[in-house]
Amino acid sequence: MKAITLDSTQDSKLLLTEVQTGALLPGEVRVQIKAAALNHRDEWCRKGLYPNIRDGVTLGSDGAGIVAEIGEGVDYEWLQKEVIINPALNWGENQKVQSANFEILGMPRNGTLAESVIVPVDRLHKKPEHLSWEEAGALPLAGLTAFRALTYQGDIQAGENLLVTGFGGGVAQFAVQFGLALGAKVSTSSSSPEKLKIAKALGVEYVYNYHDHNWISKALEDGDGFDLIIDGAVGDTLNHLIEVAKPGGKIVYYGATLGNPTKLIARKIFWNQLKIMGTTMGSDLDFKNMISLVGENKIKPIIDQVFKFEEADKAMD
Ligand SMILES: NC(=O)c1ccc[n+]([C@@H]2O[C@H](COP(=O)([O-])OP(=O)(O)OC[C@H]3O[C@@H](n4cnc5c(N)ncnc54)[C@H](OP(=O)(O)O)[C@@H]3O)[C@@H](O)[C@H]2O)c1
Repeated sequence: MKAITLDSTQDSKLLLTEVQTGALLPGEVRVQIKAAALNHRDEWCRKGLYPNIRDGVTLGSDGAGIVAEIGEGVDYEWLQKEVIINPALNWGENQKVQSANFEILGMPRNGTLAESVIVPVDRLHKKPEHLSWEEAGALPLAGLTAFRALTYQGDIQAGENLLVTGFGGGVAQFAVQFGLALGAKVSTSSSSPEKLKIAKALGVEYVYNYHDHNWISKALEDGDGFDLIIDGAVGDTLNHLIEVAKPGGKIVYYGATLGNPTKLIARKIFWNQLKIMGTTMGSDLDFKNMISLVGENKIKPIIDQVFKFEEADKAMD
């Protein structure tokens, strides 16, 4: 079958190549991929900035498709079912944190940028009926991360002020949509006025351009601060978030695109009783509850562009 593998000898670091389909172990299924989606993680792998990366592995954490083959012990009911795949493997039983064996589909295990992928049957969920293949393929990793950040970590309540930074990001777009569905008063930031228009159209209350130096004072004029802030950038912008957090509020971060902060306004953190928390993807229970929220509220991922399989390098760029 055709697959897109990591290959550090290529300029694009990607190789469209023929690979073995592989044999199923007991409890596994082969899903014929109808649509796969990209995450920032795929780009970190391409840049060699992810732990344990290996050439020859098929990239891709996100995908949706049809169960084409089942291994020993798998219920025949799964055959030909339309599914989405939970890319978080071996989370374990502890809701607080993943186990030491936790893995993400698409490195080091072969992922979804291929004609088919092999996963344990317990990673499958029925595809939400209101989603197209492309929408279903775009949901798993970013949707799971946003859902856990907002609910298990952030404990968002209806009526609370929520700020999601960097609306252009995959996780951020879900955090905004899920926050609205859960009844929060949602604000968001972006570097792009066009993206902020899209956020407004979804029902976001206040929007800010994080390159505008006045955004912090504007946010504090618009309200009395945020009960919950969801961020994936960190860097020195963490101090801006500490400024706009309501006393007693929480900042939950799932990524650090801008790296570590060079300084920290520690006094504001303890005086205002702030909680700064980290989060990563989510448990099996988080995934199940995320799918329910998406189904009940008919939430649709925002699709920017759809590419042919052969155009993976263009899509990543
Ligand atoms: N821990 C986890 O489980 C987990 C899961 C998913 C992702 N991540 C990590 O989280 C980060 C984002 O992931 P993603 O897939 O959502 O990325 P993405 O789709 O590539 O989005 C990145 C976004 O970051 C925003 N950004 C850049 N500079 C910013 C700043 N100064 N302040 C606020 N936002 C800023 C930009 O938003 P605008 O375009 O709106 O300006 C950009 O679109 C990555 O580092 C990724 O590796 C972690």
